[in-house]
Amino acid sequence: MLTRSMPVLLDCDPGIDDAFALAYLACRSDVETVGVVTTAGNVGQDDVLRNALGLTALLGADIPVARGADQPLVEPMMTAEETHGPHGLGHAQVGECGRRPDERTGAQLWVDLARTYPGELVGIVTGPLTNLALALREEPELPRLLKRLHVMGGAINYRGNTGPTSEWNIAVDPEAAHEIFEAWGQASRRLVLGALQATEVIRMDEGHRQAVAELGDHPVVAVLSDALRFYFEFHQADGLGWCAYLHDPLVVAHAVTGRFARTRPLAVDVELAGTLTRGQTVGDELGRWGKEPNVDLLCDVDAEGFIEHLISTLREGLTVRSGE
Ligand code: RIB
Ligand code: CA
Repeated sequence: MLTRSMPVLLDCDPGIDDAFALAYLACRSDVETVGVVTTAGNVGQDDVLRNALGLTALLGADIPVARGADQPLVEPMMTAEETHGPHGLGHAQVGECGRRPDERTGAQLWVDLARTYPGELVGIVTGPLTNLALALREEPELPRLLKRLHVMGGAINYRGNTGPTSEWNIAVDPEAAHEIFEAWGQASRRLVLGALQATEVIRMDEGHRQAVAELGDHPVVAVLSDALRFYFEFHQADGLGWCAYLHDPLVVAHAVTGRFARTRPLAVDVELAGTLTRGQTVGDELGRWGKEPNVDLLCDVDAEGFIEHLISTLREGLTVRSGE
């Protein structure tokens, strides 16, 4: 019996690790990426949109890419060119590819695809939650229409990477994250959350960096390799050594395979008023709030197995695509 490919919507802020996540999805024959939404985050909306259009064009993935909002819901826009490079792909750039964005907004694409694939669409967010929150305001049934929601974000009882206690995707738009966590508290299925304590187990080393550079002659390999080199340089400059934490692909691979991590239920919310802690994700480990868990938190990550899987999936998938 033919098993139907899994329909996936990726909402992202490419961004170096987002670029690996996009390439990984394109290399999986059991997944159909039916839409991409670009959210301003790592770099501004013009750059994340150009990167998503250029990467999907290079990958030969003919899918709608919808421009998301230019600003977070409340928080002033902040970007991270020092981390992801002047245009979001480190030392690489994807020029104008001739592809045009979908005529719908990011929020409209979320709602349309959730209604087109009721109970089937897997939503994955690897950037701020701005556009998912806007989609939720348009369609409050979204938590029940999606098969599952997977989010890269947060740092729970773990140091932040943006403020001392906040992680980037949540810090860029805390109000949006709060609305999503609240809504999934009422949903039938908890959202899956890949927070920093899980994604920072994925520490790419020099051997991994060289393996990426040697993935073959597909044009996207040079983009990923040049981007990753910049990411290593940033991590070294940030005092973390010659390495790179590759956050987004772990969440995406777990979403489509169910492998490389376990999960545990937890009630989670976002601090909005804290002077020192605004944007912190708070996990209620002892049940003090008396609220049902709204999150399945990634834990017990198999870093070695995942990294090998990522590199082999890219090597095989990009080789096939080179031949197309
Ligand atoms: O904190 C890591 C997250 O922020 C990743 O999604 C990275 O791409 C940045 O968006
Ligand atoms: Ca990202």
